[in-house]
Amino acid sequence: MATHETEIRNGQKRTMIKLEPGERIALCRCFNSKNFPFCDGTHKEYPNQDHGPVIVEAPAPPPEERVD
Ligand code: FES
Repeated sequence: MATHETEIRNGQKRTMIKLEPGERIALCRCFNSKNFPFCDGTHKEYPNQDHGPVIVEAPAPPPEERVD
């Protein structure tokens, strides 16, 4: 599961997100999410703006490293 941590660096907020291999997340770029920095679908309430989420996907581990 993605974890995130926000810190103040040089007077500005900076968020570091760590993903598990193969994990996929949606990041908000409309700045309306109540769960920022993650998209919660609120962008759909603003049909006059064209901002949807940024989808980020961590690469899956190579097959030899999988423990399926
Ligand atoms: S809520 Fe902002 S992009 Fe989805």
